[in-house]
Amino acid sequence: MAQPNAKRRAAATVTDGLDDAERASRDEIMALQRARLAWTLSHAYANVPHYRRAFDAAGVHPSDLHELSDLQKFPFTVKQDLRDNYPFGLFAVPREKLARVHGSSGTTGKPIVVGYTQGDIDMWATVMARSIRAAGGRPGMMIHIAYGYGLFTGGLGAHYGAERLGCTVVPMSGGMTERQVQVIADFKPDVIMVTPSYMLSILDGFINRGIDPRESSLRFGIFGAEPWTNAMRREIEQAFAMEATDIYGLSEVIGPGVSQECVETKDGLHIWEDHFLPEVIHPETGRVLPEGELGELVFTSLTKEAFPIVRYRTRDLTRLLPGTARPGMRRMEKVAGRTDDMIILRGVNVFPSQVEEVLLATDWCGGQYLIELTRDGRMDVLTVHAEARPDRWDPSGLTGQAERLVTAIKTSIGVTTSVVIQAPGTLERSAGKAKRVVDKRPNR
Ligand code: DLL
Repeated sequence: MAQPNAKRRAAATVTDGLDDAERASRDEIMALQRARLAWTLSHAYANVPHYRRAFDAAGVHPSDLHELSDLQKFPFTVKQDLRDNYPFGLFAVPREKLARVHGSSGTTGKPIVVGYTQGDIDMWATVMARSIRAAGGRPGMMIHIAYGYGLFTGGLGAHYGAERLGCTVVPMSGGMTERQVQVIADFKPDVIMVTPSYMLSILDGFINRGIDPRESSLRFGIFGAEPWTNAMRREIEQAFAMEATDIYGLSEVIGPGVSQECVETKDGLHIWEDHFLPEVIHPETGRVLPEGELGELVFTSLTKEAFPIVRYRTRDLTRLLPGTARPGMRRMEKVAGRTDDMIILRGVNVFPSQVEEVLLATDWCGGQYLIELTRDGRMDVLTVHAEARPDRWDPSGLTGQAERLVTAIKTSIGVTTSVVIQAPGTLERSAGKAKRVVDKRPNR
């Protein structure tokens, strides 16, 4: 079916409205980073006892920074440091100076808390506005925000950025899928911001209501907060006749808006390097890896006042690449997964995203899946529960497809799995980040 006229309209010229940092050369960005990094290290050392202790223990002082590569002498920060200083121990300003706190519950243990001054909120709105613009958003557009509002940074982060860009914001938050569909049909937003997995639930909602998603007003989708593949991008883009781009971020660094894919290239996410300095390290040795090599992403904030963060180990796996659409700022490849989510099955490393790619290469699975780990004697067993699309389901349970999928996974990932094909709508949906792996192995 042809795209509705509104969707076919060309986006305004790509370079309209770029800010100074987006136009800057690599040398200009690096000079800015050098000055801002010196400020951050001094600020953290002077105002956060944890950093003073950690720098002293490593025998480094902020005055040891002469060039950007000197950052390698400074110690890493890890999630446990945030837990140990819960709730407010890592803040570099008095509590009264905080304009807001956010947090994340995490999967285990104590939650973490992060804080923002008014200046930090302002910087966050700037990088989010820049991200939305890079994704195709323009002043005057209507933006439907279905990231959760609350302690999670997704909803409010997107909200302030969309307002800053000059858009009309629909602050839906996550959940109540039928209502999401109704509001999209009635208000006709141009842009949606939501986790990719919840976008699939909204797609189900359109189909259940008998509304053709390709006829919806949505032209741009900004998806993140969880790993998703290029295969999932194609699935969503085709289903809604929209442009889908990836947005990345984490609470510890700011929230969403650390990096964003540009709609004109869709070739990985440009890191907003005027505010966040990336490194990629070997996850076991901690050695800094050269550009292009896959490893763990590490961030240092460059301008944050309330919660400066130095060499934070994100546990996200990716590689750094040179800038393209914004030549002064490097890109990160789509996140392959988290070190925590990596499954080692009989010696082979498996990420849920690899399974997602294989599932979406079939013509019957729409991207709803769950990986279950169990143990049979001494053998670990990986079972892929894959849901069929409503239009492809038949009561036989798609005879033969499960065996074909077992073969396809074996060929492309190299592991033998079990496959259960599930009827449409039977896997649990999440209104935010999807849980892709359930580990039922005993005594771990
Ligand atoms: O998820 C911030 C966010 C909100 C990003 C909305 C994008 C959109 P946290 O809850 O602290 O913050 O979780 C951060 O989520 O370390 C990654 O493991 C994962 N993550 C976030 N964005 C992406 C992405 C928000 N685009 C953690 N691709 C991060 C893959 C992502 N993983």
